Amino acid sequence: MRDVTLLNIFEHHIAQKYLNRSGLAHAIAVAYHAFHLGKKHQLDVDIAAKAGLLHDMGHYTWYKNGKWDYELYKQNDIHPIKGAERAHKLLIRLGENPIKAKTIALAILFHTDSFLPSNDIVRTPLQQIVKWADERDEEEGGMHHYRTIEYDRAKQSIIRLDQWIEREG
Ligand SMILES: [Fe+2]
Repeated sequence: MRDVTLLNIFEHHIAQKYLNRSGLAHAIAVAYHAFHLGKKHQLDVDIAAKAGLLHDMGHYTWYKNGKWDYELYKQNDIHPIKGAERAHKLLIRLGENPIKAKTIALAILFHTDSFLPSNDIVRTPLQQIVKWADERDEEEGGMHHYRTIEYDRAKQSIIRLDQWIEREG
């Protein structure tokens, strides 16, 4: 039995706020990719899916004169740091096992090189698959952040993924 399900996370108002900001459809797609990759590489699929779901919850939208400014974003973005912190806080609040919460937070912290000065960090297998899961769902020009999904469909996808995870456990 897990302490926290994906549905517990999904239904929390903090998760709703940030997952909708950076794209709920993308978050769910990455959770599914992370589950499959985790299974393939014999990793903890619960941790993988949770990190996938929450990986972008640190996003902030950078605007200049009412328009998204990609240069400004690249210069100032720290979404993996903020995401790791927000996800950790939320997971602990929901009663997640602290070791799991830390592992998930670190996978979020290292899910991209975009905010780092160099591309030479060495990832654990779990951190690597979360990065791949994100890349699998990426679209040109950041369009994956704008794909939409209805709340009920999103909820059903989350419930189904929870069932798959339970079956693996
Ligand atoms: Fe992403």
